[in-house]
Amino acid sequence: MPVFITREILDRGLQVLQNAQIAYTQFTEKRVMHTDELISICKDYDAVLNAGGNKMDAHFLEACSHLKVIALHSVGYDNVDIAAATRLRIPIGNTPGVLSNATADTAFLLMLATSRKAFYMHKTIEREAWKYFEPAVNLGMELYGKTLGIFGLGNIGYEMAKRCKSAYEMKIIYHNRHNNTKAEAELGATKVSFDELLAQSDVLSVHTTLTPETREIFNATAFKKMKTSAIFINTSRGGVHQEHDLTAALQQGVIWGAGLDVTNPEPMSPGNPLLNMPNVCVLPHIGSATFEARSEMSRLAAENIVAGLRGLPLPNQVNPF
Ligand code: DGY
Repeated sequence: MPVFITREILDRGLQVLQNAQIAYTQFTEKRVMHTDELISICKDYDAVLNAGGNKMDAHFLEACSHLKVIALHSVGYDNVDIAAATRLRIPIGNTPGVLSNATADTAFLLMLATSRKAFYMHKTIEREAWKYFEPAVNLGMELYGKTLGIFGLGNIGYEMAKRCKSAYEMKIIYHNRHNNTKAEAELGATKVSFDELLAQSDVLSVHTTLTPETREIFNATAFKKMKTSAIFINTSRGGVHQEHDLTAALQQGVIWGAGLDVTNPEPMSPGNPLLNMPNVCVLPHIGSATFEARSEMSRLAAENIVAGLRGLPLPNQVNPF
């Protein structure tokens, strides 16, 4: 069989494979597959469409070096050892661009919900704790004219900045390896140092990839440099923040609030204290979970498979060689 698909994906991608007359098997069980199980299955396939976060480390890649292509159903590729894949000449594909709007919408939703304690206030109704109107309690923060700091200003960060600029005339600052001239020209964004980003942001939204440099960069030291009124938003990868430090920073009033679509670990335990804090909103990694984005992601992933099986460069290849 040519293609193994690790979780069920939308029809759009399956149609691409069918049109190219490529046979596939989808894994339909609702569980995370152990790496050794995945290795033993992949022995019988030429290509894998990785539609979950299945880890593909050097051990996996060496055991499956016969694979002609691995297509990720994600823009992020931190679950794959890219250096090992490149050494083994296995092309890795991803799905950039098509989920930028959906993920930026999620960041915006979390920013607004956190600023008004929305998830917690919803829970007060369920707990029968909504008794009477109190003018001086349950107050949130307004966002108009505030400063948005973007950590990692790529496609998704740009879309988040655009929304914040249009909705609330927020001032945009960002920290990136490279200048984002489009954001500077169109949104008046200003590149700042990491410490300036921490010190100046009223809302700090994380849109970076997870790398050894960014892993747990938002830790106790970083949170101490932020405003006590700041809101921290993360829709990229949970590994970018140190979750115990974040929890302590929120409990001790070091920062004001947090909105997380990604946690560390995932899934988050239902007993996690972050779930019961008034100024915290948590979602279960649904950043790209729209019909539109997931349909396009399935298409791009399938197109990467088709190209890889034909021995062509992938339309979206993370490790060109
Ligand atoms: C991505 O594309 O990396 C997302 O996190 C998956 O939804």
